[in-house]
Amino acid sequence: MEPMQVSNEQLEFFRDNGYVVLDPIAGQEELETLRRIYDELFARRAGREQGAQFDLAGADEEDAEATLPQILGPARFAPELNDMEFKKMGASCARQLLGGTVEGGDHAILKPPFIGSDTPWHQDEAYWNPSLIYSSLSIWMPLQDATVESGCMQFVPGSHRQGVLPHHPINNDPRVHGLEVDNFNQEAVVACPIPAGAVTVHHCRTLHYAGPNLTAEPRRAYIQTFGLPTQTRDKPRDFYWQQIQQTARQSRAEEFERKTTDG
Ligand code: NI
Repeated sequence: MEPMQVSNEQLEFFRDNGYVVLDPIAGQEELETLRRIYDELFARRAGREQGAQFDLAGADEEDAEATLPQILGPARFAPELNDMEFKKMGASCARQLLGGTVEGGDHAILKPPFIGSDTPWHQDEAYWNPSLIYSSLSIWMPLQDATVESGCMQFVPGSHRQGVLPHHPINNDPRVHGLEVDNFNQEAVVACPIPAGAVTVHHCRTLHYAGPNLTAEPRRAYIQTFGLPTQTRDKPRDFYWQQIQQTARQSRAEEFERKTTDG
């Protein structure tokens, strides 16, 4: 595929609204390969021990079926992902939208058929370090067509211009990794159904949501995150919701760290 040129209209739309929909960055053949790798990573529970695979929406108990399984940094567990064309296309789009050098990360969020739960309204920056200044975005790509019924992305236009709003763990359960914003104005919501391989891009402070998967097909999404280099704030913000969280994911990550550093 040719490198994609982000148009001035798209750039302006992103700056005004905090999100934008772009044309496909992955072709059919690459999507097929990606679906195979993706399904295999979830099937073999890649990253589970490291705390990198977990249930975003539940308490993440070993014997409970995850309704919103997530893998942080899937390319760590399948390095061949880094050589794929959609990665380069994503990086190029991010450079054009942010206007500078970018550092990247990736994650995968799966909504299983029928049981895949919703991803409640949140701002991504609510998960991040309260001491830093961010200028970041996420490029969200479905590996099959994403519809409102299967859990496509939805946004509140312009919400990126506010600061980080108060959040709480989903269901107010401190064992849950996923965060939900306390309150916001629901009136101006825009749903963005897109075909496989196309992307929605959102700023790190844009309020967004994806509904439950009510269809018989898995809803697979691959997300690439990019940002300008961070700076330290004069005064850290109070993201108190991060203090109350006690997740099984974090315990596994710490246990893994202890085992691998103790020799
Ligand atoms: Ni998010």
